[in-house]
Amino acid sequence: MVDVKKVFVIGAGQMGAGIAQVAATAGYKVKLNDLSDELVTKGLKGIEKILEKNVTKGRMSADEKQQILNNLTASTTLQDASDADVVIEAAVENMSIKTKIFKELDNICPDVTILATNTSSLPITELAATTKRPEKVVGMHFMNPVPVMKLVEIIRGLATTDETYNVVKEMSEKMDKTPVEVNDAPGFVSNRVLCPMINEAIYTVYEGIATPEAVDQVMKLGMNHPMGPLALADLIGLDTVLYIMEVLHQGFGDSKYRPCPLLRNYVAAGWLGRKSGRGFYNYQ
Ligand code: CAA
Repeated sequence: MVDVKKVFVIGAGQMGAGIAQVAATAGYKVKLNDLSDELVTKGLKGIEKILEKNVTKGRMSADEKQQILNNLTASTTLQDASDADVVIEAAVENMSIKTKIFKELDNICPDVTILATNTSSLPITELAATTKRPEKVVGMHFMNPVPVMKLVEIIRGLATTDETYNVVKEMSEKMDKTPVEVNDAPGFVSNRVLCPMINEAIYTVYEGIATPEAVDQVMKLGMNHPMGPLALADLIGLDTVLYIMEVLHQGFGDSKYRPCPLLRNYVAAGWLGRKSGRGFYNYQ
């Protein structure tokens, strides 16, 4: 089994930066990759800020923070993945972009390198089939915010071997996460259950049954959810929620997954949640 030391993370947005942080904290040498210096620097600065808070709160020493930062380097070219043991791709949720990245990685990385994707709903088996190493392709689905949430949903494509599965399972545990094994199907388990609930919450607002605040209060106080479904949609990003609903709708061909028109409207307006400053709530 591969002794993982070097990890290459693609995408320095909220998910990629979070993954890089927990991997570097676990002692892996991590290269954080994105399209420009600016994007990577933003991701690394965000990590530094969270670590600094942990130092201030007495949860880690300044030395430990520095060690974690020393484990992180910036990258703006996929060629830097040429010495990676494991690649974790957390780029945008777009099949043609992910396919292009995986094809390039397949040429750049040594045969032993495992190619994992943090996709929230795209088909692992199909992505794996675009490479010459489908047995080494696997889903490694982290939850947002990555440093806080315990779950890593590990998705096995049709060809994923036990060895590949075991490597990413061990890695997840080393990153202080709890891996849960699932098979490849639209939305896997997490988003097949979560996103229709969020979509239904949006329908209740759309139909004038309740305000976003009221819907969220019902779910927080009545079901003990840490945050209401609409606040959670704003955290995930409304474009991502819509995208996942489209994947479920198309993947199962079942009208029960139809995205709420209000969700479509918000996304069309650029109201994407926290990241754009406005969603079901105003963050400006
Ligand atoms: N990065 C790092 N740490 C963060 C963070 C972030 N983005 N957001 C919050 N935290 C930390 C805070 O710093 C705080 O840490 P301390 O206790 O050490 O200070 C801790 O989390 C709790 O935060 P808060 O006190 O600010 O607020 P909270 O108690 O309400 O918790 C929450 C915030 C953890 C986000 C909580 O509301 C929660 O668990 N919400 C549900 C999140 C969820 O369901 N995530 C899954 C989304 S689905 C997904 O990701 C999959 C997909 O494919 C779409």
